[in-house]
Amino acid sequence: MVTLSDRVSGLHVSPIRRVAALLAEANARKELISFGGGAPSLPPPKEISDEIIKLISEDSQGATSYTGTKGYMGLRRLVADDWAKAQGEEYDPESEVMLTDGATEAIYAAFQVLLNKNDEVLITDPSYLGYLEAAQLAGGRVARVPVTVEDKYQPSLELTKSLITRRTKVILLLSPDNPTGRIVETPYVKGLLDLAVDNDFWILYDATYRDIVYGERGKSQPKLTSFPGAHDRVIALGSFSKEASVPGLRLGYVMGPRKVMDAIEKIKQYTSLAPNTLSQRAMMTFLTGDVKERYLREIVIPTYLKRRDFMEGAVAKYLPDARTVTPDGAFYFLVDVRKYLATMQITDEQLCGHLMKQKGVIAIPGSFFGEKGVGHIRLTFVSEPEERIDAGMKRMGEYVFSFAFSTAR
Ligand SMILES: Cc1ncc(COP(=O)(O)O)c(C=O)c1O
Repeated sequence: MVTLSDRVSGLHVSPIRRVAALLAEANARKELISFGGGAPSLPPPKEISDEIIKLISEDSQGATSYTGTKGYMGLRRLVADDWAKAQGEEYDPESEVMLTDGATEAIYAAFQVLLNKNDEVLITDPSYLGYLEAAQLAGGRVARVPVTVEDKYQPSLELTKSLITRRTKVILLLSPDNPTGRIVETPYVKGLLDLAVDNDFWILYDATYRDIVYGERGKSQPKLTSFPGAHDRVIALGSFSKEASVPGLRLGYVMGPRKVMDAIEKIKQYTSLAPNTLSQRAMMTFLTGDVKERYLREIVIPTYLKRRDFMEGAVAKYLPDARTVTPDGAFYFLVDVRKYLATMQITDEQLCGHLMKQKGVIAIPGSFFGEKGVGHIRLTFVSEPEERIDAGMKRMGEYVFSFAFSTAR
């Protein structure tokens, strides 16, 4: 029997994809209430869909041909301007900005160019799942920095420092965070940069949820790349998937010092060759004029904020012994349900399985996001309108209470 590579046999199927099958079922069966997805639930701005239709009908050849590996200069310039406006740091669109097939390709390519075999990457626990295997594919090893509900899911600088070894090559900074919605605090970011300079490692800054933030009542995103010294230490990446509600258009970007970007360009030449042309043209429309600003201000943020507040109330009402932290950004609650699980003597994964089969409610087991996620569940608050959030949380509460107080299981 011809074998496959050792590389791939050590690779796990992403739990995200396992969840995707459940979510597809939820979409098809309306009685299922989904708090599971990681995708936006709103249609993209009309300007984007209109532009795609126009491009296909008026310039079908141009809209479907290759672009250069780094993508259109016009869009790279718009991405750099948008970043400067939000984060206060200028990147040269010619040599320091590249468009990618979603943030996913940026993460993959960044690890490929930064890591040698057995180099270490520090990632918070729990955290987004997409990093682990991407780091492993590049030969890296992952160490985790635990965060807890007691500390509002904020990473501790002292603990981070204690986990740095001579092999530490990259620290991953995700803010706003998936699965906790946390925005990191400015002193942590400053401290991390000092550590990066003293210990000579890179910071990979995943800003996928940069503009999904809940404003005055919440914290604002630290302007990481504008701190002194950050330009040479930080590789920043972002995505249109969440902010423009277009995850299927597969477009993101990565920015960093020229040396890193030249290397990423080489990797991209052999993985995807060039970013999707139609998506790039559509995203030029998104970043032109006030399309993005208006879409976020008038539609995305008010809709998500209302749902966030509603879900927070519903968690408190139906699961009064659960603990969570109000997310300042992104669109998830990570809910600590250890008290219920202890009474029920089941795991978070079993709970989510039961909730789906018996109550038609989808939640994601916290253990998917790391050891420290054990005993938690992740609830997306943007997939369902308020009345269905209420109905889903009510079903969850009923299930937990009936299970906990029934003797016959
Ligand atoms: C933190 C984080 N980074 C990256 C991604 C991947 O995004 P993209 O669709 O741009 O590949 C996701 C998707 O859920 C995410 O949550």
